[in-house]
Amino acid sequence: MFQKKTIRDIEVRGRTVLVRTDYNVPLTLSLVDQSVEITSDFRIRASLPTINYLLEHEADKIILISHLGRPDGIEEKSSLRPVALRLAELLPGISVNFVDAKLGAETSAALEDLPSGSVVLLENLRFDPREAENDTEFARLLADSTGADLFVLDGFGVSHRAVASTVAITQFLPAVAGLLVEKEVSTLEQVLHDPPRPFTVVVGGAKVADKQPLIDEFLPITDQILVGGKIAADGYASENPKIYVADDFDTNSAGEKLDIGPVATTEFINKLSNMKTVLWNGVLGKVEDPAYATSSTILAKVLGEDRTITSVICGGDTTGFVENLCAEDENLQFSLVSTGGGAALELLVGKKLPGLEALEDK
Ligand code: 3PG
Repeated sequence: MFQKKTIRDIEVRGRTVLVRTDYNVPLTLSLVDQSVEITSDFRIRASLPTINYLLEHEADKIILISHLGRPDGIEEKSSLRPVALRLAELLPGISVNFVDAKLGAETSAALEDLPSGSVVLLENLRFDPREAENDTEFARLLADSTGADLFVLDGFGVSHRAVASTVAITQFLPAVAGLLVEKEVSTLEQVLHDPPRPFTVVVGGAKVADKQPLIDEFLPITDQILVGGKIAADGYASENPKIYVADDFDTNSAGEKLDIGPVATTEFINKLSNMKTVLWNGVLGKVEDPAYATSSTILAKVLGEDRTITSVICGGDTTGFVENLCAEDENLQFSLVSTGGGAALELLVGKKLPGLEALEDK
């Protein structure tokens, strides 16, 4: 059971709510006119259930905060303004505002004039170095200048970072989880502690160093582990009978192994046939090239079309890939496509997430 209080456990009506989201979204910068485009709005859409809950339960103002990228001071290309524009499209009929004033009197003045029921996004918190330093005074300024009387952590993807807007802020405001954090943590903890069985972990991706802790953590828990991706192509080997490593590959003309081959793909699918839980972390080939996305596409379709499997997708490359497939085919559904690459991995290998720890217990 989820141990922390959530927005469902408290009265939000009439309150000014500071919501820490993770709007660290991928952007592309146009070389022609320097305009910025959001490549995936997945994290923005994932924040809507909490925002809508707060609106429906008559919170007074909803003040959204986030970081974007790792800027060195104030940089126009790391502004959250494009995110505010996208949010406004996703929340038709709601007053969605963007405030890029400095924290303090300027921000207070900008917020004061807004009517009840407004949604506001503040500018990139990392424009001030005190955010990353988990600085107490910066957190106090955030609470004071927004006039917030409740803090909600909804950005699961940033919950593994101890920063001013996830940890220090909880010294000044009552702090509870948003619906996204609740959903992600509950699903991942179920997979870790009480998965419906049989249970398989599928591991792919490029770096063994990143994936070995996941394999080690899940080896005693899972019924089998299937390994593909570049780590298999690079010769990952295991004597453990629970681990099956792909051993045929699709190659390019230079002989590079860029996807697992048809024999291994069929073997993966056969081994998944009676599963009740599948956790998938890491793509099975070089999916940015459609010629080498075959095995990952087949796996995503098998999992996404089967409503009897608890299917959990995590890791930035895998979730991005699966999200693109879901956009093309609405028949695909997964139990969880995690918004948190690093955070999900840390939770799954048994680490504590500082942002989560700082929230009030039930
Ligand atoms: C992420 O995208 O993983 C989170 O937003 C954390 O970003 P960071 O790695 O720059 O702290």
